[in-house]
Amino acid sequence: MSSTLKLSNGKVIPALAWGNGSSGLTASGEMAATLGAAALQAGLTHIDTAQMYFTEAETGEAIRNAGVDRVNVWITTKISESSNTKTTLDDVRRSVTQSISRLGSIPNLLLIHNPFVPEEGRIGEFWTYLETLVMDGTLEGCSLGFSNFRPQDIEEVMKVATIAPVCHQLEYHPYVLAHLEPVLALHRKHNIVAEAYGPLTPILRHPGGPLRPVLDKIAKRNGSDAGTVLLQWIIQSGAVAVTTSTRSENIRKLAKLFDQPELSQPDMQDIEEAGRSVHYRFYSEHMTKDFPNPALPDGK
Ligand SMILES: NC(=O)c1ccc[n+]([C@@H]2O[C@H](COP(=O)([O-])OP(=O)(O)OC[C@H]3O[C@@H](n4cnc5c(N)ncnc54)[C@H](OP(=O)(O)O)[C@@H]3O)[C@@H](O)[C@H]2O)c1
Repeated sequence: MSSTLKLSNGKVIPALAWGNGSSGLTASGEMAATLGAAALQAGLTHIDTAQMYFTEAETGEAIRNAGVDRVNVWITTKISESSNTKTTLDDVRRSVTQSISRLGSIPNLLLIHNPFVPEEGRIGEFWTYLETLVMDGTLEGCSLGFSNFRPQDIEEVMKVATIAPVCHQLEYHPYVLAHLEPVLALHRKHNIVAEAYGPLTPILRHPGGPLRPVLDKIAKRNGSDAGTVLLQWIIQSGAVAVTTSTRSENIRKLAKLFDQPELSQPDMQDIEEAGRSVHYRFYSEHMTKDFPNPALPDGK
């Protein structure tokens, strides 16, 4: 299993990210800085952050404290000043410049955090404004993408994009596959790579569903655990896995993910089949409005 994925613009993104947007980490900047440094020292090379997590400064601090070279770390951040504030076109430049200043460098990937960050009906103009920032050097070398976009939001971007979106960060695991089908079809059409957040939802937030025995069987055979198998499934499906951990034991496990034997094609199919029999979404705040759920049981 490769530890990187190639994006449509030729850049190479680390396929496993350590996020500092999970509860506990957002509540304590200090933890985000210390544990971020620990993750980098363990060998992880991708940090996922966002304006809304208030951990961008700690992301920069983690890189400095870990003693790793900035060029060897991939930073994904997201424009989203707060959970319920819109960023107007007049504010985009200031907002992005402040992110760069907090991070201490230009991020590798900037995402629009959700389709409700731009003002109503202005997703296309927002995208064009971000392109301007790339072209005038403010975001030199930065790739662009979005997060939690429904099919209609992706179409708005594709109508105007001259710089193609390379990534879409969204809740992605086997229990949302059926719901995501129209989104994933657009990913295939436009060569967009999924960044999967909440990847461990099927074992942490929806325990006991039909996937568990399938994951356990594979994990037993490979001498790993259900979480490791899920993350492998995400990455072998061609997505970036955006997980996190606050425990050194799990951070070490994450850093060794690429030493694991690959999942076989039948393993991949068994996981997909069990996942597709259920619809369960944990982070429902953005992708449920005007994007109907499939008629499937929740598997509980
Ligand atoms: N774009 C968005 O709207 C959005 C939304 C949500 C999240 N995110 C990003 O995604 C990141 C991860 O989100 P998430 O917390 O939902 O991810 P997750 O991978 O579903 O869950 C992370 C949790 O898994 C546990 N864990 C780690 N390795 C494990 C293993 N091998 N077995 C069992 N449990 C394990 C960790 O617990 P311990 O700490 O105990 O190890 C951690 O609390 C966030 O920090 C954020 O950066 C983005």
